This record gives sequence, structure tokens and C-alpha cells, in this order.
Amino acid sequence: MKAACVHTQGPASNLQVEDFQTPTPGPGEILVRVACSALNPIDVYLRAGTIPMPVPKPFIPGSDYAGVVEAVGQGVTLFKVGDRVWGSNQGLLGRQGTLAEYVCTHEQWAYPAPAGVEDSVLAASALTGITAHLAVFDAGQLHKGQRLFVTGGTGGVGSFVVQMARIAGAEVITTAGSPEKAAQCKAWGATHVINHRTENLKDKLAELVAQKPLDVWIETQREPNFDLMVASMAPGGRMVLIAGRAARPEFPVGPFYVKGLTLTGFAMFNSPADRQAEAAREVGQWLAQKKLQVAIGATYPLDQAAEAHAFLEANTLGMAGKLSGKVVVRVS
Ligand SMILES: NC(=O)c1ccc[n+]([C@@H]2O[C@H](COP(=O)([O-])OP(=O)(O)OC[C@H]3O[C@@H](n4cnc5c(N)ncnc54)[C@H](OP(=O)(O)O)[C@@H]3O)[C@@H](O)[C@H]2O)c1
Repeated sequence: MKAACVHTQGPASNLQVEDFQTPTPGPGEILVRVACSALNPIDVYLRAGTIPMPVPKPFIPGSDYAGVVEAVGQGVTLFKVGDRVWGSNQGLLGRQGTLAEYVCTHEQWAYPAPAGVEDSVLAASALTGITAHLAVFDAGQLHKGQRLFVTGGTGGVGSFVVQMARIAGAEVITTAGSPEKAAQCKAWGATHVINHRTENLKDKLAELVAQKPLDVWIETQREPNFDLMVASMAPGGRMVLIAGRAARPEFPVGPFYVKGLTLTGFAMFNSPADRQAEAAREVGQWLAQKKLQVAIGATYPLDQAAEAHAFLEANTLGMAGKLSGKVVVRVS
């Protein structure tokens, strides 16, 4: 099979497409013929070698996928050959990834593809959809009538957080880097959008929360501002962090505990498979019902995997602002 891999972790240009032996599914595993893969920031960190997680050598990056079951290993009960599936959790924790014509995954990390939802949409919704669901409903405990803030309302995770909060009947405040992106956030259900490039987030947010502070804050940026977060929260509010491995910010202990706030760190790849499967089932259902939309900002063929990685990196780490939505890699 063809796959994009790195022999040495480093820049996107290290990614090259090579021939690999098609893997054989072991006990409990399925072999998936990948139709689409989609990129996430963690694929960039792992390809670059900037976070400490073991990778095989050579390493095929890629967490998300959608495709068709080609073969099943011993003891597989959930799927049969020919089933359409989608999922995430590949290309990390020592596993090979989905920038490949085939991937072997344990059946616990695969979900039945909802009828009528395209492979590109499913691949683009996997890691970010599951993350947003678990951050909003498990860690954030969001309920109808409450008020949620999320940074980056057109980002991979942020776009789902905005829409899921709307589905839950909550009010959403978010940020966007252009008027077009702000309009997209409003179309998805945000009531207020702050342009983080032209407006002062601190002043604007203070104005917006003066009458009704926030119940949930989902922080997607790598440098959280705890003074701003704690000041904006209602008593008993929940703050959820999903990014910022290198951040060492100041923390306002007094106001935090006096308000009875909670702060939860969340990493999707540590969540149990059954919780992820429940989240994926609802994400799939909402996609099929058109209650959830995913924006696909760029699509590349497998032999341009290096360009796809460079484009995501320039935007998610370099803040180029040229990407609105997900980067999909069409494999077959
Ligand atoms: N813990 C987990 O389980 C988990 C799961 C998924 C992702 N993550 C992490 O979460 C982060 C976001 O991931 P993603 O896939 O959503 O990334 P993404 O698609 O690149 O989105 C990043 C968002 O940040 C916004 N942004 C950039 N600069 C900003 C600023 N100064 N103020 C406010 N917003 C700003 C961008 O908005 P504009 O384009 O409008 O400027 C964009 O919407 C990454 O660090 C990723 O590693 C963690």
C-alpha cells in the first residue's frame, strides 16, 4: 500500500509517500481501506517530534479516517467486511496513522458510518467532534439556558463546540479572526462573536458578561489567560483546558476558589473507548440529521501530504489565518 511517512521526525518536508506492506488485522482489529484522512494539530506535533510520545519508525501520521472494512481479525464482533466506518485515535500512542491506503485499528476505535454522510465529512469530524462533545458535556457539564464561551469558533474543535452548545440550548460567545469567520460562527448559532484581531477581547468580554457571566469556558488556545477566565465566570462555573502543553500562566487563586469554580484538563486520547464511542454516535447522528456541519477548508491528495501538513502548521501554529475549517487528505 501507499502511505505518507517520516523516517525522522521534523519539518513537513520530511513527509514522503512510500510503499508499505499492507497490515494484517490482529485479534480484535479491523483492516480499513481509507477513503479520507483529516489532519489535526496533534498530527503536526507528532510528525515534528515536539511532544514526548513514542512513534513507530518509519512513522505514518494521521489520527482521523473514514473508509470501508476490508478484513476483520479474530474475535471482531462489531463489524464485517464491507461496512463503512469512521474514527480517530490512530497515529498516536505508538500506533501507525491514516495517511495510508489501509490502516489496522482495534474495533473499539471504529464507528458505523451514518448513511448519507460523506467520507470527507466523517474524517473531518472525528477527533474534533469527539473532543468537543466530551469537553462540552462531560467536562463542561453544559445545560440548557447556560452561557458558554469558546475561543476560535471556526477552529476544528471550536466550530463543534459552538454548534453543540446551540444544540444543547445554551447561549454561545466565541472569537473569530475575520468578519467572514464571525458570520460563519453566527450562522452556527453563536450569539456574540468577538474579532480577536480587531477588538480587545478583555474589554469586549467584560461588557458581554456584566449582566450574565459564563457557566462554561472551553479554552482552545495554547496560552490561557486565567485572570480573564476567572473574572468572566459565574459562581460554580466550569473551565476546561484542551491545549497549552508549554504554558506556565499566572493563576488568580483567590477569586477562583471563592467563586467555587472548577478547572478540568482534558485530552481526548486519554478518554475511555466507550465514552468516545458514545460521543461519536451522537456526532454521527447530528451530522446525518444536518444539525451539525463541518467546514472543510482545504483538500489534498495523499501524494501532497507534506503540503497538507505544512498548510495546517502555518495556520494552527503560525496563526496565518488562511484556514477556515479542516484539512482533509483524500486517499482513494
Ligand atoms: N486536548 C485534546 O483532546 C485536544 C483535541 C483536539 C485539539 N486539541 C488542541 O486544541 C487546539 C485547537 O485545535 P483545533 O483543531 O481546533 O485547531 P485549529 O482548527 O487550528 O483552530 C485554532 C483556532 O484558534 C483561533 N485563534 C488563533 N489565534 C487566536 C487568538 N489570538 N485568539 C483567539 N482565537 C485564536 C483560530 O481562529 P482564526 O482562524 O479565526 O484566527 C482558530 O479558530 C490545538 O492546540 C490542539 O492541539 C486538543
